[in-house]
Amino acid sequence: GDFQMKDISAVILVGGEGTRLRPLTLHTPKALVPVVNKPLLSYIIEWFKYQHIYNLIFSVCYQPDKLKSVFGSGSKYGVHINYIVEKEPLGTGGAIKKAERFFKNTTIVINGDVLFDLDLASMLNYHRSKKSKITIALTPVEDPTAYGLVKIDKSGRIIGFLEKPTWDEVGRQRNINAGVYIIEPSILKYIKPNKICSLERNIFPELLLKKESFYGFVAKSMYWIDLGTHEKYRQAHQDILEGKLTNTKYFKKFYVNNVAIGVGTKLSKKTELYGPVVIGENCKIENKVTLNEFTVIGNRCHIAENVYLERCIIWDDVIIESGARLTGCIIGKNSHIGSHSSISDGVVLGDNNRIQPYSYL
Ligand code: GTP
Repeated sequence: GDFQMKDISAVILVGGEGTRLRPLTLHTPKALVPVVNKPLLSYIIEWFKYQHIYNLIFSVCYQPDKLKSVFGSGSKYGVHINYIVEKEPLGTGGAIKKAERFFKNTTIVINGDVLFDLDLASMLNYHRSKKSKITIALTPVEDPTAYGLVKIDKSGRIIGFLEKPTWDEVGRQRNINAGVYIIEPSILKYIKPNKICSLERNIFPELLLKKESFYGFVAKSMYWIDLGTHEKYRQAHQDILEGKLTNTKYFKKFYVNNVAIGVGTKLSKKTELYGPVVIGENCKIENKVTLNEFTVIGNRCHIAENVYLERCIIWDDVIIESGARLTGCIIGKNSHIGSHSSISDGVVLGDNNRIQPYSYL
């Protein structure tokens, strides 16, 4: 082609407050929420690297120092990261405008809370072949009512948007906005600087009215999930453990009999493991603990005797006392679960919780 991947920059929107993921996002920006023990954003960085894109611009707002201390200049990850920090959230459109000086050429923009294995080279080729000014990656979903539905004509040109449509409005096309965009710098003239503005709600409709060259790229067989809600967060764990996200296959190589155990972790010989299970580093798992499928344990956790865990996501530095039984729950870091407690499906505890023995949640 007439472009080289390494000359393309990517703006990653990570300024959202993550209100729907609370309490998980009270002390941890959404971008740093652990997904199978790695920060969510690290998957996106790895994906860009895999696609040979190394110039990344993080558009951040909440708790920017936490992000900087984890990702720094990006050298640890083999990429180069620039940070743009908003004082007040400007919305997805306003954030892009604030990053305007980085739009020297064709630029990728993505929502920082999606996991996918889109083939970016095909999308870029499509964008060029259509002489598109802005191209949105679309992904078909069964139930589009919680998302932004995007309608295209036969040529792929975008002809309409429906934000969170009702079932009556959903037609044969069920492609939703996957939160990955290819944008030419000329498009930024539609966004006013330093004003709150949503790309999806304010700018896209205007581009349609102005008849800009605006296309949808349907990525048919790609894996895609947005980590907006607790349910999606749990689903993403299950999918990754099952190897559905193809560019995280590297996880699988750590599996021995479907179990990954971090360095420094000590397991009792009487631990029963039914994978897929992932255990972080420097944990201590005591006698007669049962770890059942889709359980992820963070780093430095202590799981005492006779504990039973199934489909649980346990963050770092958690202590679970003897005889506790947890299924389908999420436990924030540095929490302490008293002995013989029972915590059931759907429970989400934030950081630093102290649950008394024999509690029933
Ligand atoms: P909720 O509060 O739960 O809706 O979370 P959110 O705001 O993080 O999610 P939303 O789906 O609204 O945002 C999609 C993506 O855009 C996320 O990756 C956000 O981090 C990002 N984003 C949303 N609003 C802003 C903003 O004002 N500034 C910046 N820089 N990014 C934003």
